[in-house]
Amino acid sequence: MIFSRKILLWYGKNKRTLPWRQTKDPYRIWLSEIILQQTRVAQGLPYYSRFLERFPTVFDLADASEEQVLKLWQGLGYYSRARNLHATAKMVVKDYNGEFPDTYKGLLNLKGVGDYTASAIASISFDLPEPVVDGNVYRVLARYFGVELPINASEGIRYFKQLARKVMDPDRIRDYNQALMEFGAIQCTPKKPDCPGCPLNEGCVALQKNKVAELPQKLNKTKVRKRYFNYLVVVDGKNRTLLQQRRGKGIWQNLWEFPLLETQGHIHRDELERTYNKVVPIDGSPNIFEFNTESIVHKLSHQHLYTKFWILQTDSHLDKGIDLTTISDYPVPVLIADFIKTFKI
Ligand code: ADE
Repeated sequence: MIFSRKILLWYGKNKRTLPWRQTKDPYRIWLSEIILQQTRVAQGLPYYSRFLERFPTVFDLADASEEQVLKLWQGLGYYSRARNLHATAKMVVKDYNGEFPDTYKGLLNLKGVGDYTASAIASISFDLPEPVVDGNVYRVLARYFGVELPINASEGIRYFKQLARKVMDPDRIRDYNQALMEFGAIQCTPKKPDCPGCPLNEGCVALQKNKVAELPQKLNKTKVRKRYFNYLVVVDGKNRTLLQQRRGKGIWQNLWEFPLLETQGHIHRDELERTYNKVVPIDGSPNIFEFNTESIVHKLSHQHLYTKFWILQTDSHLDKGIDLTTISDYPVPVLIADFIKTFKI
């Protein structure tokens, strides 16, 4: 039996019932795919429902404020995706009368839509024979066909796309693409896959060569940068605090955070006492508390943020202060949201 037939048979027996599998509406398919690029199905489901509830159509999403979109996206991380989502909705409304393009090439013109998303929407919404290649697909193909080319270098990327096209079922592309991704997520898992129980084990090259754990191959090229963040949580006599919006390029564009003192390494209280004024000019001497003595290490794809929260309690009045009880209304990075949850004045 050929590969695509085996994958589709497996899918028929094992697929999960998911809301975006009950529709061909490109708005819904696009939304689900953008969310699923960022997280797993279980975590993505509530985000998908909340977005659709708030923004049932692309017109509603286009009309939203960026703040609303970022707030709904909060917790998924990688906020440029949320900004692209919003920009794309506006573009679809303005330039396409609210109708998503119905070709692979047309879809590629949308902001934040690359090869993967264009192929997913083209195949799932419009039944076009475009193979999807995401992380799950790389893994399944690399193992089953025993491909040792790295999946993050141009030769490998080209090769896998061609292979994916060669082995797809163009007549059932909608199910086939989702089947391959589902198979990767559930059966051919990154760690400890159940190979003895796998219905594709007979033809699997990696299993025959004992290379399941080594495939897919990846070149190691990410260099992680360490950064040291000191957040200054100023609290005045009226329980007001300061938040500021991150501007410019870099992480967390347009999200809110406490005033930040970034340093070259870990700092002690005496250094903070000498320097906090550069970031938050407050009258008098605040009482300073170290909220966490051990740094919290927040890991992003290319950066590790060693973070301390410092509480600066002051009697002076914060002119631009906001009520502490309202800070959870602002879209903030997860690092800050976690702090707010545990910080009780
Ligand atoms: N991962 C991302 N999109 C998916 C889909 N439509 N089906 C299964 N897994 C997915």
